[in-house]
Amino acid sequence: MIELSDIEIERKPVSSINKVDFSTLRFGDVFSDHMFEMTYANGFWSTPKIYPYGPITIHPSASILHYGQGVFEGMKAFRYRDGQTNIFRPHRHYQRFLRSSARMNIPAVPEEYFMSAMEHLIEMDREWVPKDKYKSLYIRPFVVATDEFLGLKTSDTYKFYIITGPVGNYYAEGINPVSLTTMPEYVRAVKGGSGEAKVPGNYANSIYPAWLARQRGYTQVLWLDALEHKYVEEVGSMNIFFMIGDTLVTAPLAGTILPGVTRDCVLFLAKKWGMKVEERPVSIDELIDAGKSGKLTEVFGSGTAAVISPVGHIHHDGHEIELDRNKMGPIARRMYDTITGIHHGEAEDPDNWCHLI
Ligand code: COI
Repeated sequence: MIELSDIEIERKPVSSINKVDFSTLRFGDVFSDHMFEMTYANGFWSTPKIYPYGPITIHPSASILHYGQGVFEGMKAFRYRDGQTNIFRPHRHYQRFLRSSARMNIPAVPEEYFMSAMEHLIEMDREWVPKDKYKSLYIRPFVVATDEFLGLKTSDTYKFYIITGPVGNYYAEGINPVSLTTMPEYVRAVKGGSGEAKVPGNYANSIYPAWLARQRGYTQVLWLDALEHKYVEEVGSMNIFFMIGDTLVTAPLAGTILPGVTRDCVLFLAKKWGMKVEERPVSIDELIDAGKSGKLTEVFGSGTAAVISPVGHIHHDGHEIELDRNKMGPIARRMYDTITGIHHGEAEDPDNWCHLI
């Protein structure tokens, strides 16, 4: 456990908080006053520091810059009405961070370091946790390989950082439906690759197809499986759910999709509410048919940044699947209201998801 006395602390002389308009927050362009850093060398993590958020120094030859040996997480903290701060499901995020680190051959940051670093940082910047409902403090822990070496190998040295910043909605659409298109000529991940880990390469690989999708008027890419280009996997920034008839269906965790923490919340709540739930391969043809026959009544994505995001339209190879383009469907709405209610301490926390600091 890192004690506060172990952390070297340099406070920002004057907070930047007064420069921030919390009423117009978007996602990912505002950062809190401080950041956390810890160093891995000679086989152990040491020298925890909290200092003013700002540029970092790294060797131009560091492996993260060339070969992408790194991992990250995306988490959120919320403000309760009584002022308490809730970090949402940090242990679940930590478990995924561990698995991602193992896939990238990065030494584990011990859980007690991860947790207390994050708690100390958020406690120092507690004024940055937005007071409004539907807004939150986004938390981005990440590890980068820092060896000064251009050969391709496991780095011997790393930095673990945590940065945070207040955020609003992830998509410009807010909570209005987004539109998706498949891109069968590109793939996000294949079994045995790193698709189920939260690592930079998965996201870097998706940037060009996502840009193309935007040029064609779609918000994001709906990724199909890499082998048959047939089964729907995820959206890159979120997992995806389909209401087909009376069943909520999503792709299984079979090695290529990110095991989303919000995905897990959706499955948990749907089962708790007595809904029929299936984690199984869903083909794009099944969705087109279900769209035509009216059996496909709702599509929505789930993610830490995206929370619950309705999908109003899916394009695939000349086929258009039309859903409600103007509003969230009832299942997505119930999920959104329940999950945001739990975030802010206004709905029952059904499975100890809230971690109060
Ligand atoms: C998250 O949802 O936390 C992510 O890391 C997705 C990212 C594209 C913002």
